[in-house]
Amino acid sequence: MSASLEALDQRHVWHPYGTQPAALPALVVERAEGVWLRLADGRRVVDGMSSWWCACHGHGHPHIRAAVAAQLEAMPHVMFGGLTHAPAVRLAERLVALTPEGLEHVFFADSGSIAIEVAIKMALQAGRAARRTRLAALRGGYHGDTFGAMALCDPVGGMHELWAGALPSHLFLPRPPAGGLGDPVDPAWVAAVEALFAAHGSELAALVLEPVVQGAGGMWFWSPAHLPVLRELCDRHGVLLVLDEIATGFGRTGALFAADHVGVRPDVMCVGKALTGGTLTLGATLCTPAVAAAISAGEGGALMHGPTFMANPLACAAALASTDLLADGAWHRDVARIEAALAEGLAPARALPGVADVRVLGAIGVVQLDHPVDVARATEAALAEGVWLRPFRDLVYTMPPFVSTPSEVASIARAVLAATRAS
Ligand SMILES: Cc1ncc(COP(=O)(O)O)c(C=O)c1O
Repeated sequence: MSASLEALDQRHVWHPYGTQPAALPALVVERAEGVWLRLADGRRVVDGMSSWWCACHGHGHPHIRAAVAAQLEAMPHVMFGGLTHAPAVRLAERLVALTPEGLEHVFFADSGSIAIEVAIKMALQAGRAARRTRLAALRGGYHGDTFGAMALCDPVGGMHELWAGALPSHLFLPRPPAGGLGDPVDPAWVAAVEALFAAHGSELAALVLEPVVQGAGGMWFWSPAHLPVLRELCDRHGVLLVLDEIATGFGRTGALFAADHVGVRPDVMCVGKALTGGTLTLGATLCTPAVAAAISAGEGGALMHGPTFMANPLACAAALASTDLLADGAWHRDVARIEAALAEGLAPARALPGVADVRVLGAIGVVQLDHPVDVARATEAALAEGVWLRPFRDLVYTMPPFVSTPSEVASIARAVLAATRAS
């Protein structure tokens, strides 16, 4: 049964960033419960990736399951043009309360990438009257795989060359130097971004960036002290600040949102991934009344976006239930506990051959190699330790579910070390 599923999958199903037919078979998962994935071959492994960083409460949390089941009974979906429903309204109210002050309006999107597309439309529509037609982004960033989002991804690692001619040419700023919470601002970096703003600020509608942690662009950590510098430059040059908190949002870096480390208020903010606790796909783009007014009074007179499954009630119910689970603040203690355990558990990697850096922030642990990871060997080594990891480029990393117990975090750390040795 599982062998034929695996073979059929390899023959017919396209997997992320894959060839067709697939070069390697994918593992068949039969159940996901708490931090555990049960594989069809009988193995039971800890999901050290929180399934691409979204299952922050583990899989199938009973509170989220019950909310989705109740919503399924009442109404799985209705169109959102001209209609509304309690899950969307309550979730918008919740997101406005949880996110940095000033964000008042919520556009629901189907995924993180679409939340970014909506943010781009918001910025370009709001900047249209002033002929601000370009965007700025940080080098090393990742914002999704749709064309608008891809144009903001790192121009070297982000496949820009493959799409040359098809992507708009935005302005790329150097990213802040590697660093952690509490590290001071780097004056050389400030001088470089000031010069770019001075030369191009009047062309820019918005600066889009992942605050404090750049994820898929290279798991790069930077000191939040640099964020107010960018906020001030945006203000000085009339540029909107768009924060992509799709990966960092809902506690992952140790603050509810990465912007909260320094109390920066963006004009637009995107969330996704852990928004539904990893249950269903949903993103949201929030903005200030000033941005909403500029769009609504502008040439188009409306925000030109409206996907079929916008504000899907099941996804909104899952997001409400997932954010309920954050309300008692236990996530904060859990993330701090996981941070300490990963710092201790990954420290021995520093002595391993081929390791360039080891870093931990919140519930994120990274071992960076001085060479590309052998993904097949690294994955097998982690599985042998009872853990699912999915390394990429030169990075073996983990983002454990917040509910992982101390012994599960210890297994994850052992698996990261094993995967590093196997690479
Ligand atoms: C920071 C960031 N932005 C946007 C996205 C795109 O989200 P999605 O995969 O839901 O389209 C991702 C996904 O990894 C991300 O990490």
